[in-house]
This record gives sequence, C-alpha cells and structure tokens, in this order.
Amino acid sequence: MAPPPPSSGMSFRSADRPLDSYQFTFESFLEDSARIEPDSNGHDVYDTKSLSDSIARSQEEFGRTYHSYRAGSYHFPNDPSENDRNEEQYAIIDMVLDGRLHLAPFSRAHPPRKVLDIATGTGTWAVEMGDLYPEAEVIGTDLSPIQPAFVPPNVRFFIEDSSDDWDYPDLFDFIHTRVTIGCWSDMKAQIIERAFNHLQPGGWLECQEIPCMIGCDDGTMPDDYGWLRWVREFQAAGQLAQRDLNIGPHIKDWMREVGFVDIHESVFKIPINGWPKEVRLKHVGMMWQRNLLEGVSAFSLGMFNRFLGKTVEEIELSLVDVRRSLFDRDVHAYHRLYVVWGRKPEAA
Ligand SMILES: C[S@@+](CC[C@H](N)C(=O)[O-])C[C@H]1O[C@@H](n2cnc3c(N)ncnc32)[C@H](O)[C@@H]1O
Repeated sequence: MAPPPPSSGMSFRSADRPLDSYQFTFESFLEDSARIEPDSNGHDVYDTKSLSDSIARSQEEFGRTYHSYRAGSYHFPNDPSENDRNEEQYAIIDMVLDGRLHLAPFSRAHPPRKVLDIATGTGTWAVEMGDLYPEAEVIGTDLSPIQPAFVPPNVRFFIEDSSDDWDYPDLFDFIHTRVTIGCWSDMKAQIIERAFNHLQPGGWLECQEIPCMIGCDDGTMPDDYGWLRWVREFQAAGQLAQRDLNIGPHIKDWMREVGFVDIHESVFKIPINGWPKEVRLKHVGMMWQRNLLEGVSAFSLGMFNRFLGKTVEEIELSLVDVRRSLFDRDVHAYHRLYVVWGRKPEAA
C-alpha cells in the first residue's frame, strides 16, 4: 500500500527522500486469523555443542590471556582488550569498504545460503551476515570461545582449528576470511585448497587480509623509520614461528593455482595516522593509528618472547620508539587491505 502523495499539508526537507517513492508492505506481520506456513525442512542441520571447561579456559602469559584449545598455535591474545581492538579494527575496515561486508557478488536479491567464516574472532562479521541474509545459515569457527551468546538464530559458532581437516556435512556457497595473519603455516594448503573442496560449484571464497608490511609512495619513509623496523622484526619472528605475516599479495595466485576462476583483487590503502589531507582518509588514519598503538604490545609479546627470546621488559622498552614513530605525520606510510574473491567453476 503506497502512502498518499504529499498534499498541501505535508512538506519534505530537501535532503529527505519523498515517502511516495517507497512501496510499503505489511504482509510479513500476520493478522491473528492468518495461517503461518510451516517450513518443510523443519530441523536444524547443525547442533550447538557445549564447550568443555578446558576449551573455555584461557592460558595466562605476559599479563595477557591466550587460547587454550591447541595452545601455542596463535601467538596473539584473546583477552577483552584485544577483542575490543579487533572490534575497532572491524569498524575501520567497515569504513574502508563503505559498509560492504563482502565484495563477492551476493546481494539481498541473490543471497548466499550457506556461509562459513573461518577464524571469526568475536564473530561480528558472521552476526552481521546473519542479519543481512536471514535466509542464510552462517557458521563462524575459531580457536577461542570469544563470540557472543546472543546472536541471530541463523548464526552458529564452533571452536575448532581450521588447519585440521574440515568436517562439515554440507557444501558452502560462500567462505570468508578476514585479518588472519598469524593463523596459518600454509594458507594455500590449509585454507584455500580446503575452501575449494568445501564450496559447491559456483560458490565464492573471499579473503580480506592486511599484510604487516607498510608502503609509502612519496619517499617520506626513511629506511630506519620506527614502525618499519618493527615490521622487519615481526617478520623475522614470523619466519621462526612458521607464520607468513604478508599473505595478502599472494592470495590471488593461490586461488588461481587451486582452480578458482573469475578472481578479483581490490587493494585499499589505510594510512597509519592522520597524515592525509582528505578528511575521510584522515579520520580512518587516526583510527588506525590508535588501533596500532593499542595492538602493538599484543602483536609483539608472544612473537618476540617465544621466537626471538626477548624478555617482556626488553619488548616493552623497544616499543617506546615504535609507538613514537606512529605520531610522525611527515612519514606518509600506509597498510594495504587486500580483498580477493574468486569462484569455484560450475564444472568442478
Ligand atoms: C585478528 S583475529 C580476526 C578475527 C575476525 N576474522 C575479524 O575480522 O575480526 C584472528 C582470529 O583467528 C583465530 N585463529 C587463529 N588461528 C586459528 C586456527 N588455526 N583456526 C581457527 N581460528 C584461528 C584467533 O583465535 C583469532 O580470533
């Protein structure tokens, strides 16, 4: 039922869309006399499991907490301050992607039906996908039980190590990763090949990843820039930990080698502080700077202690200059967000 056109008694501010461009429908709010049609597929495919105490408990080290299931596999904390930082990082990526949850060609008119979010973290992407696509079944998996309990009914979380064999009864039509550096020893074999095998023909894999290496286009970043020195040390620890911390630029090739087609790559720049002139980028940069300042201790403690043999005191002392370098607006450095999506061929 369309509302009446504006009459002499109604006025619109010029910024508002006139109401008569909308078509209202009330058919989903049923009256008492209306029958509700039952879904013939009346059972849930996935049952939720209760967590055993040992998985739910975290391990303490360096004054932080870490996952206890497959302990020692992921070297960044899972405590409230790291989870808050991840939420803020989520908001920054949301701004960079203009509110889009994915770039793979799904939409309200063409929704995904079975979605897997690997290394879901606090599960915000999975929850927002569940809200956006109520007809979809969304599964998020992670080593840490840090996901909310109150989620849309079509969203489920499981604790698992995604580098193990995957054991899902159905094929997915959308598989997703976001910010998973430090999770895998071999992302191609552990994630991209497995995703290919667990997608139905025509399904999509999308990876949204931020490599740790920074870039600069105008020569303002000296070779001894503090954050760049930190990145090199972080990479050295990553090599010893068998964790590739620069996965973004390789994903396109890995997808092609595994058999994906129709592969797209979009790369977005995230300034490391408020150095850009453009207001929106400046805002993103200032938020990113705060995120890096909050996160650098979490990124460093496990990696630099376990693999470079540094004490907590040595690490924290070395971070003073690293943090200070993030305030230097004369250095026009940025991180890159790689968004890569590809399709499993219909014939595969
Ligand atoms: C930086 S968080 C990102 C979370 C989320 N994708 C996001 O965008 O906010 C990385 C997550 O990967 C999880 N993780 C690390 N190794 C994993 C593995 N082998 N299997 C499953 N999850 C893993 C960690 O527990 C952590 O929650």
